Amino acid sequence: MWPWGSGVQIPSFTPIHFYLTMIEFNFYWPTRFVFGRAKIRNIGKLAREMGGKMLLVTGRSSMRRTGILDMVINSVKSSGVEVVLFEGIGPNPKAELIDEGGKIAKDERCEFVTGIGGGSVMDAAKGIAISATHLGSIWEYINSFSEFKEVTSLALPLMEVPTVAGTGSEGNGTTVITNEKTHEKSFVKSEFIFPKVSIIDPELTLSVPPEITGECGVDIICHVLEPYLTATSQFSASFRITEAIIKVVVESLPVAVKDGSNINARENLSWAATLACSPFRGLGLSGTGPLHHIEHAVSGWFDISHGAGLCALLPHWLEYIADDISERLREFGMEIFGEEDAIRALRKWIEGMGIYKTLGELGVDKKLFNQMAVDTIRVCGRGEDFILGGTRKLFVNDITRIYENAF
Ligand SMILES: [Fe+2]
Repeated sequence: MWPWGSGVQIPSFTPIHFYLTMIEFNFYWPTRFVFGRAKIRNIGKLAREMGGKMLLVTGRSSMRRTGILDMVINSVKSSGVEVVLFEGIGPNPKAELIDEGGKIAKDERCEFVTGIGGGSVMDAAKGIAISATHLGSIWEYINSFSEFKEVTSLALPLMEVPTVAGTGSEGNGTTVITNEKTHEKSFVKSEFIFPKVSIIDPELTLSVPPEITGECGVDIICHVLEPYLTATSQFSASFRITEAIIKVVVESLPVAVKDGSNINARENLSWAATLACSPFRGLGLSGTGPLHHIEHAVSGWFDISHGAGLCALLPHWLEYIADDISERLREFGMEIFGEEDAIRALRKWIEGMGIYKTLGELGVDKKLFNQMAVDTIRVCGRGEDFILGGTRKLFVNDITRIYENAF
């Protein structure tokens, strides 16, 4: 018996599986967000609520150069909280460096960890919060492998302060880590590494250069576009929310790339970034993240920025799977760009910002394509000889072909 009773026509525009798919999800979001211009000035007070001694994790130089680091340290110290500084986190945070930070946090008896910087810094802070309180190397906690150690509630509490709108690490319980020896890049996911507090101050992103602003903006889109395009269920609520997040980025990113001082564009991108990689994204869609898997092998081997790798690969991944998801792509193109040819429109939008580079232009060596494809499947294939990419399985040959096309 159909739920709408006999004699009622199924609307012609609605696919039949719309009515038959069971939607279910488990949603947990324990982070407190303090959002707004100049909110970084609250860091001392917020730190005081976290504990008496902070390990402050940051990058190589930009926080010092802009004066933000001094301001943060002064504010935290004046609220009576001790600060231990751990600087020097670069792109694609390395397991060894995270273990080193964990040892310092442990030896110094830090009560909580704060990451202030881009996604790499925030992810490093999460890794350190685990490393300081758990046995062995952070790499032993990577979720990809068949036997991995579980993170427990012992992880140090976290505060995150993004200075770039992109990874969304400030709003989730995931950290992406690279093994410098094997070039593998993968993640640790745990409810115990959700930040307790995140300060999202869009003014901190005003000095991000155009190229990084653009690449990180494409990362925001990929975080929601991948589960949207690879969804195996029909859940209009999540589809429409996803489209809204992508629309915000499509409108605001070219503005911020052209004029970095446009605070309104920075505000929009900052919140879109947080939502796009939060537990809120793709709820009930049962989608996957194949493009991120394919990209991680690139930045794992060549230490390029994650966003740049995504820009290079995105159009080619879409072209490769387009026949499988033609209807979803058409819907996406019409909704976001008012064009049926979504790939053409998306590519034009990226190129219009002047941020598109091929893998070759990024310095990727094509001799490693096969190795990178093998790595992708070993790290992300859950023991199978493929990863899921839309309605099809992507094997080594498929992934190699996508790299070749993006070269
Ligand atoms: Fe990402």
